[in-house]
Amino acid sequence: MFSRRTNWELSENPLSLALAGCKAKGLRVLDLTESNPTRAGMEYPAELFLGAFNNKESLIYAPEPKGLLKARQAVAGYFAARGVVLSPEHLTLTASTSEAYSFLFRLLADPGDRVLLPAPSYPLFSYLADINDVEPAYYRLVFDGLQWRMDLDSIEKAAEAGKCKAVVLVSPNNPTGSFISAVELKRLNALCVKYEMAIISDEVFGDYLFEGAKDRYISLASNAEVLSFTLGGLSKALALPQMKLGWIAANGPKDILADALARLEVITDTFLSVNTPVQNACVEWLPQAHVIQDQVMRRVTENLAFLNAKAAAGNGGAYVYPVDGGWYAVLRADLGMPEDEWAVRLLKEKGVYVHPGFYFDFETEGHIVLSLFTPPDIFRQGVSLLSVF
Ligand SMILES: Cc1ncc(COP(=O)(O)O)c(C=O)c1O
Repeated sequence: MFSRRTNWELSENPLSLALAGCKAKGLRVLDLTESNPTRAGMEYPAELFLGAFNNKESLIYAPEPKGLLKARQAVAGYFAARGVVLSPEHLTLTASTSEAYSFLFRLLADPGDRVLLPAPSYPLFSYLADINDVEPAYYRLVFDGLQWRMDLDSIEKAAEAGKCKAVVLVSPNNPTGSFISAVELKRLNALCVKYEMAIISDEVFGDYLFEGAKDRYISLASNAEVLSFTLGGLSKALALPQMKLGWIAANGPKDILADALARLEVITDTFLSVNTPVQNACVEWLPQAHVIQDQVMRRVTENLAFLNAKAAAGNGGAYVYPVDGGWYAVLRADLGMPEDEWAVRLLKEKGVYVHPGFYFDFETEGHIVLSLFTPPDIFRQGVSLLSVF
């Protein structure tokens, strides 16, 4: 009856079952995985975010495959405020970053072709690959004791094996908070030229950089050496995932870029998935992004400082990896048992919910992922109960 691509393991894992059990019993859970920004105590000024919908232009349907020009101009303005100059003609709007991935996989890969994905990283990729009939292949992010580095040799090895159409970067990465360095980009560009691969750079967390990391951050929106697609969207830029607006900024050598944009336009024209009210509203919202981003930065900075202080005051039992950006922190500790078993026990015995590292494909055991977006009182209480420090 069903396609093989949807033969997923659909049963709940022991941790989700334990969480559902706690909720069913009405037990209080200190959730240190909070990733829904709209439920984490941010203040969204109603006059800005709802007032912008009171716009008569939203009663007019003007189908425009790349997205309304004024919305693309607003996104170009958002890039300009970050020092990246690009033409609205090189921007394509989508309903979300996830949809952007789908469109790009469709643009670049035939069934059975491969896309190179970072590990550890965001768990949605394997589903996006399955749904679009591409083979996920993984390259490693390796911690060298000071920082996370891309294993470019593993990219070259995979590319040599053939059929690799794109390399995905998540920058800053979820959950390691790391991003590509200038030296790595130089070598990656050379590999992409040699093996005819495109780069897809997911920069949804690009606005959330910690002190000391800002000067090193590189947006691939300026990368003209190889065909590059930079993804972003309101779900992180304004902490408004429900508004459903993402974007793809394309760059690259002139001819191939023009061809890519023309083909992408046919894909977006087939769906026309971005709604008009949000495109009109984003014109007012994007110049005010700081209203939300300042609050988010304060939150993640406060929580990270608490976590680092906790680790520093402990007896060396837990290591907090350095974080350059994003909404997550990763801890490594000797848990004395498999991560999932430990996480289930933590939940049942102390009512604290964390994500085990294997959700994100860490190579070794002993990783715990925490959301820095968690409301600080809950974060402090929950972290204090971790007993790994
Ligand atoms: C790295 C990364 N990319 C993309 C997304 C999804 O963004 P969107 O809501 O725009 O699909 C997320 C959501 O958490 C994410 O962590």
